Parts: sequence; C-alpha cells; structure tokens
Amino acid sequence: MAAIRVSSLTLLASTSASASAASSVFTKLQFGPSWGISLTAIPLCSRRTKRMAHSIARATLGLTQPKQIEASKISIAAKEIDLVEWKGDILAVGVTEKDMAKDENSKFKNSTLQKLDTQLGGFLSEASTEEDFTGKAGQSTVLRLPGLGSKRVGLVGLGSAVNSTTAYRSLGEAVAAAAKSALASNIAITLASPEGLSAETKLSTASAIATGAVLGAFEDNRFMSESKKPSLKSVDILGLGTGPEIEKKLKYAEDVCAGIILGKELVNAPANVLTPAVLAEEAKRIASTYNDVLSATILDVEQCKELKMGSYLAVAAASANPPHFIHLCYKPLGGAVKTKLALVGKGLTFDSGGYNIKTGPGCLIELMKFDMGGSAAVLGAAKAIGQIKPAGVEVHFIVAACENMISGTGMRPGDIVTASNGKTIEVNNTDAEGRLTLADALVYACNQGVEKIVDLATLTGACIVALGPSIAGVFTPSDDLASEVLAASEVSGEKLWRMPMEESYWESMKSGVADMVNTGGRQGGAITAALFLKQFVDEKVQWLHIDLAGPVWNDKKKTATGFGVSTLVEWVLKNSS
Ligand code: BES
Ligand code: MN
Ligand code: ZN
Repeated sequence: MAAIRVSSLTLLASTSASASAASSVFTKLQFGPSWGISLTAIPLCSRRTKRMAHSIARATLGLTQPKQIEASKISIAAKEIDLVEWKGDILAVGVTEKDMAKDENSKFKNSTLQKLDTQLGGFLSEASTEEDFTGKAGQSTVLRLPGLGSKRVGLVGLGSAVNSTTAYRSLGEAVAAAAKSALASNIAITLASPEGLSAETKLSTASAIATGAVLGAFEDNRFMSESKKPSLKSVDILGLGTGPEIEKKLKYAEDVCAGIILGKELVNAPANVLTPAVLAEEAKRIASTYNDVLSATILDVEQCKELKMGSYLAVAAASANPPHFIHLCYKPLGGAVKTKLALVGKGLTFDSGGYNIKTGPGCLIELMKFDMGGSAAVLGAAKAIGQIKPAGVEVHFIVAACENMISGTGMRPGDIVTASNGKTIEVNNTDAEGRLTLADALVYACNQGVEKIVDLATLTGACIVALGPSIAGVFTPSDDLASEVLAASEVSGEKLWRMPMEESYWESMKSGVADMVNTGGRQGGAITAALFLKQFVDEKVQWLHIDLAGPVWNDKKKTATGFGVSTLVEWVLKNSS
C-alpha cells in the first residue's frame, strides 16, 4: 500500500507541472509508470499489503504499447466561395430528393446543381441518372471530373429530411469516408438548397456537418502494427454563412469532437493497457492541459479508506491493479459561480463479474473493457469543458476507478459491505459491482456541495434488453432535471429515453441482515439498479442516472461510440451563464 500512496502523491504533485504532464501516459508511458518504479520501496511485511492483493500493477501485461497518435488536427472553416471557384480534392453537395428533380430536358431545377452541371458539361445530371442517384438518405456518388477547381464532385443524399441533425452529421461522415478512400486532404461541403434555412438552423447545420466530418475521419489504429496516416486536413463549409457566430459554433463542435474522440480512445483501450492507474493519469493529463480552469485530485486506497468507501473498495479488492479515485474540478475564469454540478462516471476498467463470474455465450466478458464507458464520457466532457471554459458554473468530474476481478482477497457473494454514508449492503451478486462503486462516488459528489448530479454507467444488461443497443436509459426522480438533460440530448442527437423509478420494486432489494442487497431479481433490472443508486444521493440534490450499457459500443463497427460526451457538454453549457 505504501507504494500506492507514493504513486498517488506523485500523481498529485505532477498535476501542476503542466508541460510534462501534458503528454499522454496512456499512449506513451506503458513501460514505466512512476508508481511501477516506486514498487521497489514496498515494505513487503506491511500489514496493509497483506489485506489487499494490490502489488504489481503495471500496464505492461502482454507487452502491448499503443502507438502515439500524432496530433494532426483537421481545420474547419466556414466560407462563402462560389462552388465552381473552390479549389481542393472533393467538393460535396448535400441534396434532398426534392433537389434532384429535373425538368423535361433532364436538367436540374435546383440552381446550385444546375450551375455545377453547366460547368461540367451536363455530366452531373447524366451520371446521377445513370447511377440512379435520387438523393435518398445514405446514397452517395463521387465523380472524378475535369472542369472545376475541385478534383472530385460528390453528391450525398439527405433523403426527404431536412433540418435533422442526424442527416447533416451523416453528410459529414459520408464525405469523410469518401475522403478516406480517395486519400483527399481538402474537402468542401455544401447544401444544394441552403436558402430556406433560418440563421439559427444554418449554424446548427454547419456544426452537425463539421462534427460528422471530424468523427467520420477518426480511426483508432493505436493498436494496429500497420496503419495509414489520416489524409484529411481541412474541411470548408460553404454557403452557410461566415463570421464570428459560425466560427464560434464550429470551434464548439471541434471541442466536443475532441472530447468524444478521447472518450472513444479510453473505451477502446484494452484493460491490460488502461488500468485504473492509467485512467487516473489520463485524468491528470486533462487537468494539466487546461490548468487555468481544471485541477485534479487522485485518492489512493488509504485515502479512500479514510473516507470509509467500503463499498467501492470491496469491488477493487481482488485486483492486482489498485483502485484510483479520480476527482477533477472545473472552476470558471473570473470565479463567479452560479451553479455547481457533478458528473459521475462508472469506471470499471474491467468487469469479470467477480466470483459471480460472467460465463456463457452472450455474457460479453470479452467486451468488459468498455465497463468504464461512463467515466470515458465524464473525462471526455472534462476535456471539452476545459477547452470551452463556460462561465458561471463549477463542475466536478468524479470516477471511482477500479477493476472487478477474482482472487483470495476479493469480495465474496454474501459479504456485507459498508458505504461511506454508513449504509450496509449485502452483496448477493458480485457482478452488480458498478452500483457498489457508484454508491461511494455519489456520496462523495454530494459532499462537494453540488446542486445537480448526472451519473453515467454501463450499469445493466437489463437496460439493453429494454431499450436495445442504441438508446440509453434515463432514471431520475426530478422532472426538472429530466427535461434539462433530455433537451440537451435533443441538441446533441444522442438517444435517451426516460424510464420509471418504480418505488414498489424496492421490495426486491431488501436484505434480512443488512440495509439492502445489491441485486433484485431479473425483472426490471435497470430500474432496481437505479433505485439502489438513489440510496446514496442526498434528498436535496437533484440527481439523474444514465444507463449507457447499450450505446457505449458499436457492435457492427467493433468500436466505442464516445456516447454521452456531447449531451453532458451541452447540459453543462445550459447551466452556465
Ligand atoms: N457491466 C455490467 C453491465 C453490462 C452487461 C453492460 C452487458 C453491458 C453489457 C454490470 O456490471 C453487470 O454485470 N450487471 C449485471 C447486474 C446483475 C448481476 C443484477 C447484469 O446486467 O447482468
Ligand atoms: Mn458486473
Ligand atoms: Zn459492470
């Protein structure tokens, strides 16, 4: 334990050293974390060492070292240039089915398309007919044509839907995909008919297109021995306005994308690389990068014991990788604070299930590196908030990071653990571990004097059964907070659905020997999990829980989604002044 304490102090100490801490340990320091080296100083006879299995905890298992990613940023700009004048690799036009209407001479009725087509000698209308391109959502065609400043012209279908964030984001994604296959560096994206859009809609459309392009261009190949460098360097958004307002909107989109990408990278990193210590290092790195507004506190086992976090520490007890309790605090420049918020994320770097080990097909044990998806969303949001620096709001980012493993020092089914608010829990299932860690994290969050808490957790398989893979469940006793967060998700485009907090289901959470058990029956599993969390939140604090077990991961693309970041950032901004 001494070693762990030394390491945590090292972590705390280096928080202020911005320059050195600004590089990612997660991508660089796999072979020599400072606390790994400090292991030589462990007094092996320490009584505490005997109690828990934490001894050798290195992120070197399997000798995997993620490649360093070059910080190649895609520059995004709003411009007003005539399409035929624009010079670059791909000029893409988002078209609705209506835009594709042609007159009796097979000429486009839409003026933008007509102009392009004239410049291209009628080839665009010809090709679109031949390829049966009708502007349906998901359709796209890229033509390599001489006659314009751009080397290629693309048409991307928006369907009949206009004014939809999702459609415009898909437009950006489709163009990014085309850029990838054409090895294009500079692209421009525009709409065939932007005229009808209000000033407000133009801004959000530009932002959605930019977001789609940046996220579509992103590929996580840190763990591949060979990979191509991303080709995309710049995205010009044409015809949606210029000036400070749209610039600000695009900068905001870029900042949120940076947070989403960080969230994806954290979730994609395997558990042998991303241990609780490495997650804590990452958090510290975010704080030191934006040290004008963010500060980091990392608590080690001893400090968590002092705070009586028996519920969290019980989950961590089997692992050779010690737990790290992460707390970042955002304070606005200028100081005045109107609202205090907390974002709490489940941070299980791996969930084996413990003694109730995950077995059988469909248990997804091989994906349980994603069980820190809630914390990834929280840290992704911290990065974006550090960059955006909203006024009038204080935000606490809290993660009780640990690993749910099996060993002689691990908690047993039937153990009774005591959380930091004094409540006792009979652990009738060691696989319902996330709520045990969140219990202490929520108590800690309430002690920060916050008015509102949003927690995010890959908490239950039951939530996936209820809502499927792409919708997250929202649980809260507060109608006000529900409408705030749901409004934020409308803007972000992330799918959330409010579920009931059915108090009568608490019956199944009663224990004969302790204040509660940690698992009710199979029925309504996502609801009983939320009711459990509620036991650890002060009544005067507004609290909302998001179960993102489904949307954390994209099964088809076999990659993390970064889910939660954009809604959280949007919500924090709604609470700023
Ligand atoms: N991390 C899992 C939840 C999970 C399961 C997320 C599948 C994504 C996909 C969580 O810790 C867990 O194991 N929950 C149990 C609770 C049960 C024992 C009451 C579950 O959902 O099976
Ligand atoms: Mn579990
Ligand atoms: Zn879990």
